[in-house]
Amino acid sequence: MNKSLPSRRLSVAPMLDWTDRHYRYMARQISRHTWLYTEMINAGAIIYGDPERFLLKNDCENPVALQLGGSEPQALAAAAQKAAAWHYDEINLNCGCPSPRVQKGAFGACLMNETALVADCLNAMQDAAPECVVTVKHRIGVDKQTDYQVVADFVGTLREKTACRTFIVHARNAWLNGLSPKENREIPPLKYDYVYRLKQEFADLEIIINGGIKTNEEIALHLNHVDGVMIGRECYHNPMIMRDWDNLFYSDTRPAIEYEELVLRLQDYAAVQIAAGRGTILRHMVRHYLGLMHGLKGARQWRRMLSDAQLLKPNRPELIAQAWAQVVQADGRFAS
Ligand SMILES: Cc1cc2nc3c(=O)[nH]c(=O)nc-3n(C[C@H](O)[C@H](O)[C@H](O)COP(=O)(O)O)c2cc1C
Repeated sequence: MNKSLPSRRLSVAPMLDWTDRHYRYMARQISRHTWLYTEMINAGAIIYGDPERFLLKNDCENPVALQLGGSEPQALAAAAQKAAAWHYDEINLNCGCPSPRVQKGAFGACLMNETALVADCLNAMQDAAPECVVTVKHRIGVDKQTDYQVVADFVGTLREKTACRTFIVHARNAWLNGLSPKENREIPPLKYDYVYRLKQEFADLEIIINGGIKTNEEIALHLNHVDGVMIGRECYHNPMIMRDWDNLFYSDTRPAIEYEELVLRLQDYAAVQIAAGRGTILRHMVRHYLGLMHGLKGARQWRRMLSDAQLLKPNRPELIAQAWAQVVQADGRFAS
């Protein structure tokens, strides 16, 4: 691994349809050091589809991980090799997604019952992409497996049979029958103590905790027990939570980005993306910005303008500045 990369103390979770390259560009403006993950991409789509469509990223995004979905070692290896050529720092295998579509393909969370196959997958990915770190994201068990030993055996076996040393643990079970993916992120109980135990038992591994974590205070508490914290939904609905992370968790004393500067960068970015002519339209980008003003007085006006189909139609990046002007008007703190 490139030694100059920051640690995975903080990371933004892979989120299908949410953590695309436009979201990741914004996140990178807010935090220099936080690791970013792509949404899960099916290995087959990369091999047989248009690689640019799935792998294109902004140079500024690194450190960034590509998350793959799949369960065929050869296909995952071919996809990993392509990803390495696009300069992803890490390739992560999804062993946590419970969706019925994924179960049909026999990957995602059901792989927790196939540890030997997961080992083959990780080894094939690592051989194909030696310049990338290969990691795994998983749950603490599937369906009625509620014993700590289930996840401990999964991690222990992979430690023995592969070079994987980073385990990202969504601290709840996946219930494969009867719950939607959304319910599977809310209903099975969180068991943070299982993840802490993994770190105690496997001190040499990098253990990252995930699930239901929302505040900087919670992050700081978890970091007393594990190596890193991965956050999903809160980073999407309130991206400015990442604003203080470089300072608080990476000892970077440079000032955090100002809202106004961020808005300017996003507008410039939108202009470049629209001009690049890949079919990118303003809506593809600004849909990820709706939560940016969370907690500010003009947040509602910001959201309303950036989700108004009529206003978005002409595809003018200046709409972002116009929406910001509403926030400045509503929230006295930003008036110059
Ligand atoms: C809209 C959405 C899409 C998701 N897509 C993925 C995915 O592609 N791969 C994955 O491993 N997890 C996915 N997840 C799960 C998150 O990575 C994370 O494990 C989960 O949301 C728990 O973290 P949180 O409570 O901080 O949000 C998704 C979650 C959401 C909300």
